[in-house]
Amino acid sequence: MNASEIRQKYLEFQKSKGHQVIPPAPLVLENDPTTLFTGSGMQPLLRFLLGEQHPKGTRLTDSQPCLRLQDIEDVGDPRHTTVFEMLGNWSLGDYFKEEQIRNYFEFLTKVIGLNPEKIFVTCFIGSEKYGIPKDTEAAEIWQKVFKEAGIDAKIAEIDTAEAGDKRGIKPGERIFFYNDKENWWSRGGGIETTPIGDPCGPDSEVFYDFGEDKQDVEKYGKSHPASDGARFMEIGNQVFMQYRRNSDGSFSELEHKNVDFGGGLERLAAASIESFDVFKISLMKPIIEKLESLSGKSYENNTDEMRIIADHLRGAYLLSAQGLVPSNKAQGYALRRLIRRAILKALDLGIAKDFLKETISTIEKEYDSLPDSILTNRETALETLEKEEKAFRKTLEKGIKELDKIYQKNKVLSGNDIFKLQDTYGFPFEISIEEIYRKNLKLSENYKAEFDAALKEQRERSKTASKGMFKGGLEDHGTQTTKYHTATHLLLAALQKHVDKNIVQKGSNITADRLRFDFNLDHKMTPDELKTVEDQVNSWISEKLPVSFAEYEKDYAKNTLKAHGQFWEKYPEKLKVYTIGDFENPVSREVCGGPHVENTKELGTFKIKKEESSSAGVRRIKAVLE
Ligand code: ALA
Repeated sequence: MNASEIRQKYLEFQKSKGHQVIPPAPLVLENDPTTLFTGSGMQPLLRFLLGEQHPKGTRLTDSQPCLRLQDIEDVGDPRHTTVFEMLGNWSLGDYFKEEQIRNYFEFLTKVIGLNPEKIFVTCFIGSEKYGIPKDTEAAEIWQKVFKEAGIDAKIAEIDTAEAGDKRGIKPGERIFFYNDKENWWSRGGGIETTPIGDPCGPDSEVFYDFGEDKQDVEKYGKSHPASDGARFMEIGNQVFMQYRRNSDGSFSELEHKNVDFGGGLERLAAASIESFDVFKISLMKPIIEKLESLSGKSYENNTDEMRIIADHLRGAYLLSAQGLVPSNKAQGYALRRLIRRAILKALDLGIAKDFLKETISTIEKEYDSLPDSILTNRETALETLEKEEKAFRKTLEKGIKELDKIYQKNKVLSGNDIFKLQDTYGFPFEISIEEIYRKNLKLSENYKAEFDAALKEQRERSKTASKGMFKGGLEDHGTQTTKYHTATHLLLAALQKHVDKNIVQKGSNITADRLRFDFNLDHKMTPDELKTVEDQVNSWISEKLPVSFAEYEKDYAKNTLKAHGQFWEKYPEKLKVYTIGDFENPVSREVCGGPHVENTKELGTFKIKKEESSSAGVRRIKAVLE
């Protein structure tokens, strides 16, 4: 079965089990300052997993395009990709472990026809520290389900992650227990790093066995499901999302127990054609074949470059088809980075002419079934990419000219010169070196050390600014960002109270180090205004105001509670409202998904660092908590 067929079969199968198919969310989530891109199917559903009612009911399913830039350095191996599609199904307080495990096993073995003998699974071993029990329930359900398929599945009761790659698998073992590094799911990873306010829980992962002969024992040790190497590939993760993290670090049971299932479409497609290499599937193979024909080189001898190009072009297409334009900021920069990396890797293969358009058009039709509401710019996507490609080639040309100029002047090129070419003109280090060798120019002896030192210095300077942005998940969503989230509400309220009551939010971006807030105002704020606003926020902080939330009908929230909101037409019928201070006479009341701190006293001291123009009629404040 090819990927499109698997996607369709999965949604049909989940429909037959009572799920409603929901449209996927865009890769760039509006109003979610915590991550750059949608990185899992659950992300757009966060508030429903925390208890808000979903208009489509308690059983949902979709296929969600995802982008995880944090995996960019792993691309090149047989299974990592930055962009992928996550097949997902959710129970919002409806079915739980047994129905989920049974259904997924049925889907794998009966619908896609995988051999049950090749399926291995893992469960959570529990956490004494946090009082979370070993998930013997899931393990026993798995045992029953395997038995019905004629398989006597033994349980390895030990912590297999800890036993490591020396132990391997004992005869008959098929169900394994692992600690929280492997089998606890939260947007921040393991149990310790679960973000405050987020839903989370133990998970049970499903692996496909490509055969013992695929394991490189010398390199990776003896295999077990979550070990490194090419033998096992994860093809699904069932999160039993039954906890929520409290601000004191402990976990409470959610009122409703949810299931959050996610499975990578690309990996399922690979398992279904018995290929441990996901780049052989229908969504990628046409790109690889095109690259082979353009370069006259084979995939077998150039796997790394071709995998990276295939992955990045797919990502670039999806982003650009969703209307994103390359730029030097946040998401636009990520798109630019994917395009440039692909072009440079293609140069390594000897492809020096424009190739994006004709290469990407080989997979365009694979996305026909994604709704137009997501791929809003399908028609212009390739043109946008082509324009960027041409511009980058100009950059490369310009870099070469600059390089020649510097050489004429100094008769030698230093690491600092090469750094400047990269930093100012976007002309990459490797290309400089190549050019220098090609023209037989003189290079300073310590050019590499000089370059590294310059790069290090610049990184240090920009580290604070970009910390966490490309990671996605916890750092962005941890304690610090939660605090900034609440501080943002106070800032807006103070601006409305002291500067102009018509001020609304025009944009917000939060990292672990600062908040950034855009709002409408027709003048530069005076020092007096800035001080009044800053003092007001600090005085609310020192008043130790409670922060509370509850769910309301949209109409009630808007007209009776007079909550602040910007997207009333887009909000669902039921929404969450956060109140800071006394309920009857609050300091701030906003429609918001959260999370927030429980009391303003947690915030520390609020300091405005900068007030500047953002665009016409829009001002921008950057502020920190100290
Ligand atoms: N949210 C889960 C994951 O990303 C399913 O693996």
